[in-house]
Amino acid sequence: MLDLVLAVGHHLTIFALFGVLTAELVMLKPAMDAAAVRRLAAVDLWYGILAAIILAFGFGRAMFAAKGWAYYQHNSLFWSKIGVFVVVGLISVPPTFTYLRWNRAGAASPADREVAGIRRLIWLELFLFALLPIFAAAMARGYGEIS
Ligand code: HEM
Repeated sequence: MLDLVLAVGHHLTIFALFGVLTAELVMLKPAMDAAAVRRLAAVDLWYGILAAIILAFGFGRAMFAAKGWAYYQHNSLFWSKIGVFVVVGLISVPPTFTYLRWNRAGAASPADREVAGIRRLIWLELFLFALLPIFAAAMARGYGEIS
């Protein structure tokens, strides 16, 4: 039962995080007003919350679910998955600080060039994020085992 609960929680929070990134991409437009920037910063807050929950579910699964830690600790795809997840998290730092700066600036619309730069970072995050289910499916089936 614990295995099932952790798996469901893992999948739902992953979908939610993907939704947050997609929402940011849709909301990032030229000539955003102060209310739009505030909404963007509020959505972005969920990135951090969900990433922390995903880590808890992920490591919960690795340690306490059906296969046990011994299965994952020698799996290169497991560590690659964590590495890519951390890289995505690091790429998400500049957008977060930029939203906060825009928010502080109040009424002034962010420059189009800056909006385009942040959109590129979000696209990169989405691309890297898409690698994670591929690594996950392979590791769950025994690929990546370091003998
Ligand atoms: C970095 C924190 C994470 C850890 C520690 C972690 C750990 C795990 C573990 C232990 C499993 C069980 C695999 C098995 O059944 O043997 C799993 C499954 C899975 N994870 Fe993660 N995960 C993390 C983040 C993510 C993220 C961000 C994604 C998605 C983009 C993801 C996608 C998946 C998928 C799709 C499965 C199911 C694989 C399958 O059964 O075919 N994980 N994860």
